[in-house]
Amino acid sequence: MVMAGGARLTLNDGRMIPQVGLGVWRTPADDAAVVVRTALEAGYRAVDTAAIYGNEAGVGEGVRASGLPRDEVFVTTKLWNESQGYDRALRAFDKSVERLGLDHVDLYLIHWPCPQQGLYLESWKALIRLREEGRARSIGVSNFAAEHLERIISETGVVPAVNQIELHPRFQQASLRAANAAAGVLTESWSPLGQGQILEDPIIAGLAAKHGVTPAQVVIRWHVQLGLIVIPKSVTPARIVQNLDVFGFALDTNDMAAMASLDTENGRIGPDPASFG
Ligand code: A2P
Repeated sequence: MVMAGGARLTLNDGRMIPQVGLGVWRTPADDAAVVVRTALEAGYRAVDTAAIYGNEAGVGEGVRASGLPRDEVFVTTKLWNESQGYDRALRAFDKSVERLGLDHVDLYLIHWPCPQQGLYLESWKALIRLREEGRARSIGVSNFAAEHLERIISETGVVPAVNQIELHPRFQQASLRAANAAAGVLTESWSPLGQGQILEDPIIAGLAAKHGVTPAQVVIRWHVQLGLIVIPKSVTPARIVQNLDVFGFALDTNDMAAMASLDTENGRIGPDPASFG
């Protein structure tokens, strides 16, 4: 029997993370509890939220409503840009766990490096303290370029568990994936379905027909086979179920090559981390 939540990956701090989790960016606050509960009942064991999403309270409610023991659910949230800095990050974390109604999170991420603010190193030191206190079991970053990663690692000696970045077939991020891997950082894909925009692609549709699955399943399976953590967002119960059901088929070498061919220079959908925030 497949373990609930599908495959797991081992983080560089020795803890395990479910490879496929539920993303809730743009999930309305009022829907979050039901969506999260639906996902957990469908076998998901990880949820990815953020302070800025405005739905942490609903996420916590959904986790509690599932009836699952707390240690079976991996909850990620993130520090928003305006809360960067050592003291502000600590206070922002307190507010996030309060909204979630949890005493700890499994993973806490710096949401964006905001290099113009020049505070991400101080924020990182706050996350290190939260990990030492056991309130954030693992810590990491999001949208960090290789140079930002290098800086926090060389200044503190603490390697982020993950770097969560925009990554989908039209924006495959090969060099940043390699930089993460070289540092011992797992890559986590946000907007893994390209916000749904890539699901009409004829190559992906062809692979879906070949394997008797949906385009979304092809794309999620591609992330899984690249060794990425992936957090597809859906508020639609049938899609939520479908998006976790990617462990019963495999893309072969030719399929992976076809997926690789979809990469583009300018495939970024979201903001550029070099200037955002
Ligand atoms: P919805 O939430 O209305 O079900 P991403 O994770 O890349 O941000 O993509 C999320 C978008 O993709 C949402 O618009 C979501 O729609 C849609 N989506 C998620 N899963 C599927 C699926 N299995 N099939 C089609 N569209 C999907």
